[in-house]
Amino acid sequence: MTIHVWDYRQEYEAERADILEAVEQVMRSGRLILGDSVRAFEEEFSAYCGTRHGIGVNSGTDALTLGLRVLGIQPGDEVITTANTAIPTVAAIVSAGGTPRFVDIEPDTYLMDASQLESAITTRTRCIIPVHLFGQCVDMDAVNAVASQHGIAVLEDCAQCTGADYNGKPSGSMSRLAAFSFYPTKVLGAYGDGGMIVTSDEALAKRLRRLRMYGTEGSYYSEEHGYNSRLDELHAEILRRKLRRIDAYIARRRELARRYDDQLEGIGLKLPVAPSGRGHVYHLYVVRHAARDEIVKELAARGVVAGIHYPWPIHLMRGYRHLGYAEGSLPQTEQAAREILSLPMYPLLAESDQDRVCEALRAVVPGLKNQLSI
Ligand SMILES: Cc1ncc(COP(=O)(O)O)c(C=O)c1O
Repeated sequence: MTIHVWDYRQEYEAERADILEAVEQVMRSGRLILGDSVRAFEEEFSAYCGTRHGIGVNSGTDALTLGLRVLGIQPGDEVITTANTAIPTVAAIVSAGGTPRFVDIEPDTYLMDASQLESAITTRTRCIIPVHLFGQCVDMDAVNAVASQHGIAVLEDCAQCTGADYNGKPSGSMSRLAAFSFYPTKVLGAYGDGGMIVTSDEALAKRLRRLRMYGTEGSYYSEEHGYNSRLDELHAEILRRKLRRIDAYIARRRELARRYDDQLEGIGLKLPVAPSGRGHVYHLYVVRHAARDEIVKELAARGVVAGIHYPWPIHLMRGYRHLGYAEGSLPQTEQAAREILSLPMYPLLAESDQDRVCEALRAVVPGLKNQLSI
């Protein structure tokens, strides 16, 4: 049996009764869009994040795009982020009318290197998007210090780190606005698309509610150009129920990460690094090796499908070449893209399957030359 980097089917079997009850509840409620389940989930999820308001939207991408829009991003405004992220972080900046600017990443955590922010700031910089990648928060004290010194807004991209924390502060609570994704693979995943923006700023929350529904405020009258971006009742009700189990999901991810750490120690792979004070939720368990492509091939031959997040840095993709970044401009990002791979990780991953992954790695990796420079 093939072991995939992520699979929802065991979770569905384990939680089937509850999920089908959620579907039944919504189907019988008489309301499919912006009803009680969305309202309740917005309250419960924003409270979980330590913020006052939650605005359910269609995806994490929309959460970022609408967030940038209410921050007032105008054409020509620059938004600083990293190129080692999912495409939507950058796509959202462009969709909102902004110009993405990149800083490099830390070589051990693969997160935004906050020490590079100062030199990336120009008179056009309006926002910083730190991406809490793989389940771990960016050094937010450092990001917020630079941002407040320059009067620049911060929008956390929390798509991969629901439930993570930084010095005890939940991800999503450390900036004016934060964007979450409920894409199925995420720590809190729906069975389709979904997203949420959280904030404690009442005026921004009000405007976001308007923007997600054609700029309207409960009537067929538009106050401003808006979108159709609503989280639907079915997903909200399923997500509400899954939110009650999130501590168990995260505990299990951490336990699986510890098992990987133990079994893979010393074989020549660079294992994930979690600086103190960061509550890592292991959305992904990312390891590194100079012979990454060979490892991925050998794992596949042994029935293990590893992931690569991400194989191409965004600044070098054809879709974003116009931003003007040449090869070599973000050396840590580019090197990581050649060397990282993600091992199977999801709460219902069987330990026997995880043991098979480790066995395969122990058979393959020690024979390979590892020329990691970090
Ligand atoms: C870091 C990051 N940002 C943004 C997104 C966008 O989320 P969605 O797929 O829900 O649009 C994702 C997920 O794909 C992501 O991983």
